[in-house]
Amino acid sequence: MNPLEVNISSLKIRNPTMLAAGVLGISASLLRNAYKSGAGIVVTKSISKNPRFGNRNPVVYELKYGLLNSIGLSNPGCEEFLKEVNELRKDNIPFILSVYGESVDEFKYLIKFFNDYVNAFELNLSCPNVKTGLEFIKDVELVFDIVREVKSITKKPIFVKISATVNDVVDVGKACEEAGADAIVAINSIKAMKIDIRLKKPVLSSIFGGLSGEAIKPIALRCVYELKKELSIPIIGCGGISCGEDAVEFLLAGASAIQIGTAVYKKGLRIFRDICMFIKNYLNENGYSKLDEIIGLAHKA
Ligand code: SIN
Repeated sequence: MNPLEVNISSLKIRNPTMLAAGVLGISASLLRNAYKSGAGIVVTKSISKNPRFGNRNPVVYELKYGLLNSIGLSNPGCEEFLKEVNELRKDNIPFILSVYGESVDEFKYLIKFFNDYVNAFELNLSCPNVKTGLEFIKDVELVFDIVREVKSITKKPIFVKISATVNDVVDVGKACEEAGADAIVAINSIKAMKIDIRLKKPVLSSIFGGLSGEAIKPIALRCVYELKKELSIPIIGCGGISCGEDAVEFLLAGASAIQIGTAVYKKGLRIFRDICMFIKNYLNENGYSKLDEIIGLAHKA
């Protein structure tokens, strides 16, 4: 028996670590490397119907405590990305396809387009770098409609990536659950900025970007804890997880799995194996035989 195996909806995953959308997710070879380095499953960069060029450089700025990005969902569009999807399938790499649409119809189009090829979908409803990202996630009824419409046309698991930049993360989570979502991914990066005091201007061309990495970990952890308390569907934690201890915190807060993005960028691909090793040792040292036994334990304290 593999003590780290996770079951989310109908999706069996060999361990709870996932490559988060965005980092390395634009080509099959990079996704393959992440899987071969130990990720339980990989999530692609968000793919839209038509190609998107994203924002003008500079779009990434490294901070001591995280990363600021304003990439703007650049991607080659669904037709072109199908080639990468076929490569992944050829090599038997399990993957979750992240999709981004500017309307309900565009989300539906993407789900239909990729339906036969993916293990699961992640709906990106919360990108801080495009106008519709934060507009979508703040409109609970719209979130409900998108998830319900998408669920009506696919049997594949639907995960919804949400933001902490809302009035109440639980309201959004409940809307997703009621509309039939199979899991919530919490959270996306948080709208933020940095100013270069020598140049006296923002470091990013688009002024604002999404803050990810260690700085947002306590916020992400709080969201996972709140969602777990009120929801029945699995929660996937995302935001600043950069070592085994962080991962265990998220599991205890109620995450069934965790996504890692910025830490892959900062520490490299060995992070998946390091985190899995830490979790395995933690289970052994604390007398547990499988991962399930510790999910949400912090709620009982
Ligand atoms: C981006 O491409 O702008 C980042 C993706 C996201 O934050 O959803």
